[in-house]
Amino acid sequence: MGWAKKTVYKVVVQPKGLEYLCEAGETLLDAAQKAGIKMPVSCKNGVCYICQAELVSGCIVDKRGREQSTAEGGLSEAQTLSFYLCHSLPKQDCEIYLENVYGPSELPMRNAKCQVQQVTEMRAHVYKVVLSQPAGRRVEFFAGQYLAIEMPGRESDAFFSIASAPGSRDIELHIQADPHLTSACEMIDYLRESSTISVKLPFGKSCLSQVPDKAVMLLAAGTGFAQMKSLIEFLFMNHFEHEVALYWTLRKESDLYASELLDKWSQQYPNFHYKAMVAEPSDELNTEHHSQLAQAVIDEHDSVVDKLVFASGSPKLVFSTMDALAEAGLDANNFYSDVLEYATRD
Ligand code: FES
Repeated sequence: MGWAKKTVYKVVVQPKGLEYLCEAGETLLDAAQKAGIKMPVSCKNGVCYICQAELVSGCIVDKRGREQSTAEGGLSEAQTLSFYLCHSLPKQDCEIYLENVYGPSELPMRNAKCQVQQVTEMRAHVYKVVLSQPAGRRVEFFAGQYLAIEMPGRESDAFFSIASAPGSRDIELHIQADPHLTSACEMIDYLRESSTISVKLPFGKSCLSQVPDKAVMLLAAGTGFAQMKSLIEFLFMNHFEHEVALYWTLRKESDLYASELLDKWSQQYPNFHYKAMVAEPSDELNTEHHSQLAQAVIDEHDSVVDKLVFASGSPKLVFSTMDALAEAGLDANNFYSDVLEYATRD
C-alpha cells in the first residue's frame, strides 16, 4: 500500500509576490505561518477581522462551506472578494492581496513599550522575566531571536535571547545575575522597579522562520538555554516530528534551572530528548568540556550529515563545537549561532 498523496495548492501573496504552499483542509493563515510568513493575526476565529484579505484569483471556501471564486467571468477592477485568512481554505491555486506581510527573515526591527509582568528567581541567580507587549501592537519575531532592553543612564542596550515562542503577547527572558555580575544585577533591580520598559526587537539570524524538514540538535550553555526553549516550543507548536535533541552544558549541577520542563517535554514528545552536561571537576567550562559537547552529539548519532544545529555559548565553545561537527560531516550551512554574527575566531 502506498502513501496517499496530499493535495497541495500554491498561494501567491501580493503586492510582495511571496509564495507558499497550503494543503487541502488547512487554512490559508496556518499554512502561511508554517512557511514562516508573518501576516496580521489575532483571534484566529473569524471574529476580529484583522486577517482580512482580497482574493485576486482562484477559489476558496470558508469553514461554513461558503465558496468564493473568481472563475466565472472574472472580476472587474472595481470588484474585490474579501475573506478572512484564518477562516478560509483553498480549493485551487490562489492569488491573494494583503498588506503588512513579511516573508522569512524580513521582519523589521521595532521599538515597543512592554509591561514588566514577572521577575522571579528560578534557581541559582537565574531570573525568569516576563514582559507583556501592548495589545494589538505586538512586534513579530522568529523563534530563536533576541531583543534589546534600553536602560536609562546606560549608553548601550542589553541583549537577551527570547525564551518563548512567537505568537503570544508575553515575552519570556532568562537573565543570569550572579552577585559578581554587576550590570546583570542592576538590570534585575531595574526590571523589578519598573512597570514599563522600552525594548527593541527582533535581532538575530540564528532562528527558525519555518518548520525544518530535518532533525534539530540544540547545543546550549548556561542561560543560552533560553534561545533553545523558544525554538523547541515553536517546533512542538507546529507538530514537528523529526528528532529534537538538546545538549545543555552547565558549570554546576545547580545551574540546571529547567529540569521539570525538560522532563515534561521528554514525557510529552517521544521525539525529544536531552542531555545535561556538568563541567566536572572544575567549575570552568574548560577545553576538554568544549570537546565533550560536540562528542556527545557525534556519539549519539550515526551521522550528523543531515542535521540542523543551533548553538549558544562563548565564542570559544561555539567555534570548537562547529569545527568538531564539521569534521564529522555537518554541512556548515546547517550550523547556526548568534556568535557567528558578532565574534571572530581570534
Ligand atoms: S485572526 Fe481574527 S478574523 Fe482572522
